[in-house]
Amino acid sequence: MPATVVVGAQWGDEGKGKITDHMAESADFVVRYQGGNNAGHTIVVEDERFALTLIPSGVLNDTVTPVIGNGCVIDPAVLLEEMATLKSRGIDPSGVRISNNAHLIMPYHRRLDAVMERFLGRQQIGTTKRGIGPAYTDKFARSGIRVQDLFDPKIFRQKLEVALREKNLMLTKAYNQLPMEPGTIADEYLEMAEQIKPYVTDTSLLIWNALRADKNVLFEGAQGTLLDIDHGTYPFVTSSNPTAGGVGAGIGIGPMEIGRVVGVAKAYISRVGSGPFPTELDDKIGERMVEIGGEFGTVTGRRRRCGWLDTVALRYAVRINGISEIAFTKLDVLSHFDSLKIAVGYRSHEATYDEFPRQQRVLYDCEPIYQEVPGWSEDITAIRNYEDLPKNARDYVELVEDLVGVPIATVSVGPARSATILK
Ligand code: GDP
Ligand code: IMO
Ligand code: MG
Repeated sequence: MPATVVVGAQWGDEGKGKITDHMAESADFVVRYQGGNNAGHTIVVEDERFALTLIPSGVLNDTVTPVIGNGCVIDPAVLLEEMATLKSRGIDPSGVRISNNAHLIMPYHRRLDAVMERFLGRQQIGTTKRGIGPAYTDKFARSGIRVQDLFDPKIFRQKLEVALREKNLMLTKAYNQLPMEPGTIADEYLEMAEQIKPYVTDTSLLIWNALRADKNVLFEGAQGTLLDIDHGTYPFVTSSNPTAGGVGAGIGIGPMEIGRVVGVAKAYISRVGSGPFPTELDDKIGERMVEIGGEFGTVTGRRRRCGWLDTVALRYAVRINGISEIAFTKLDVLSHFDSLKIAVGYRSHEATYDEFPRQQRVLYDCEPIYQEVPGWSEDITAIRNYEDLPKNARDYVELVEDLVGVPIATVSVGPARSATILK
């Protein structure tokens, strides 16, 4: 059975956690392939709200094996804490499997993330300060420390010492910070190693065998297409490939194993952190989206910037990921607006654009070209059949389908697992 990928089609926080949790009802494995605890996935099951940052959203289904692949960066303290929290709330996380090849987020990564952002001042990216960027930097500089190193204390201490020699120079000389102590960090990490050991495995082999056994494997992207290190609004991006192309490298399978790519898009759009945002609304309408949509970050609590749906960006996401269907979330948040706008192009003083501009400057300078459509006044949160949606809501959904060229297979009208319409 070919695998399915769930990918964020915007700047993150599209509702991937909710959609993954819903789809996980029929999955055997739910796999994270990139990112770390910069993700914040909120899932509501009946009246209970869960916020996951590292453990895959499938964990709330007891038939699912949650897997954290080699493409992820793991803060072991966060992993253990998240597992403990789940356990205290009656969820058994003991089935979690972690790649031996995933890189570790170390305390100096977190420290560097914070001080480097401060150093950038007004140019800052607005990271989650979880150490994500510095951990991936070390991975690519070949000075990272991997999960498997935890089980070879001598090698672990050696690698840590070498790494800290350089990091301490950076911390003290460039950023005016106190140096960090290798012994303390090693003791702390090696103690956690014992607790993590039962969950560590060759996740590539695990998923290979699952696919051979015709199991249902769901890949859960964190962040979103426009935060992709290669295809996003660089440098205001994360340090991994959240796009569907990241799956192969992030777990270790070939591209032929994937049969379906579900792009999750909000019925409007949001972004948290810095960077260009053509349809951003600095007015009462944007304010209303924040309030009704509860647009505050799951991880950092920051207020998310909101704006009208951007189908130029959404068509770009369809292309970059090979999205075969869209899960359209938070349609309920758009109730009670007299009219709604959808960006169908951009206009700058030089040209008009119907494709995502290759020169990023355009995203700052352009005006969106909007198509305006009538809104609806009904509360739609209790609706479960597509035909029962108000005509204007259906017209909105179908216009987006026409504009982006792929079907909207799922419409979400509330945070709860059950508030889902299969079209
Ligand atoms: P993710 O990072 O893509 O998983 O998204 P987040 O969990 O960070 O943000 C989405 C927020 O919207 C969460 O608080 C969800 O509970 C909530 N949510 C998801 N789908 C819907 C929906 O259809 N309607 C409403 N009102 N809220 C939703
Ligand atoms: P989920 O999975 C929204 C943003 C940060 C910052 C940039 C880089 O919940 O959709 P990082 O800490 O990754 O180096 O920060 O990326 N960012 C997210 N924005 N949702 C996320 O995850 C994000 N993860 C990172 O705000 O702008
Ligand atoms: Mg989120």
